[in-house]
Amino acid sequence: MSETQNQNTPGAGKMIPIFVMGKRYEVPETLTIMKAMEYAGFKFIRGCGCRGGICGACATVYRKAGDYKLYTGLACQTVVEPNMYLAQIPFYPANRASYNFAELEPKAEEIFKLYPELFRCVACNSCTKVCPMDVAVMDVISLLKQGNIAKAAELSFSCIQCGLCASRCLGELPQYHIAQLARRIYGSKIAPRAEHLKDAVRAVREGKYEAGLDSLTRMSEAELRQLYQQREIEPEMAAEDWVPQDKRYL
Ligand code: FES
Repeated sequence: MSETQNQNTPGAGKMIPIFVMGKRYEVPETLTIMKAMEYAGFKFIRGCGCRGGICGACATVYRKAGDYKLYTGLACQTVVEPNMYLAQIPFYPANRASYNFAELEPKAEEIFKLYPELFRCVACNSCTKVCPMDVAVMDVISLLKQGNIAKAAELSFSCIQCGLCASRCLGELPQYHIAQLARRIYGSKIAPRAEHLKDAVRAVREGKYEAGLDSLTRMSEAELRQLYQQREIEPEMAAEDWVPQDKRYL
C-alpha cells in the first residue's frame, strides 16, 4: 500500500476522522475501511484482492477512541467509524509446513507431525474471537487433537486464510494453515468420491467441450457479449431438477 494525493469525491456524505497508522484523515462515513483508505490517498499494492470478503487479503486491526479493546475485521467489509485507529496486516509470518501432499496419509498424526505446535494451544479462545468469518477456530484445533479431521474441515470451511487467528495466538499456532491442511486431507483422501464429478472429468477428457470452446475463442467481443446477454438464465424459483433447454454441454 502506498500513499498518493488526496482525492475529493463530491456528494460523499458526512465526513468523519479516522487514523491510518497514526495519521489523521477525513473520510466519508459510509465507506468501508478499504474505500476510505483509497479516498484518503492510499493505493493498495498488497492487502487487497477480491474486495468481496473472500480472499482474506485485507485483515485489519483497529481500536476505537476511548476503548481499550482491539478489534479485527476485513477492510473490504468493515465500515469506518469516527476516530477509528487502524492498521492493516496484509501478511502474517506464521509457520507454514512444507509437505509432499501425495505422500500424506489421511490421519491426524500427519498433521501433528507437520504442526506439533498444535498442542501448544492454551484454549484461550482468542483465535475464535478475532475471526472475521466467525469460524470457531479453537474448536477446530480441539477437533484435530481428537483426531477428527472431517469435523475440523467442516467447521473451518469458511476460513479465508487472513491469518488474524495466528496474530493473536498465545501458543503461536498457525491455525489457518493447520485447518487448511485438514481440509485438503479431508477433501482429497477422506470425503467420498462424487460420481457426477467422475462423469464430468471423463467428459472433459473425451473432448465433449472442445468444439464449444473452439467456437467461443473464435468469436469477437461483440458476439461474446451478445451470446452472454441471450443466455438462458435459471429462474430464481427454479425446481431442484431444472435444466436449460440447450443440453449440449450438460
Ligand atoms: S479484499 Fe478479499 S477479503 Fe477483503
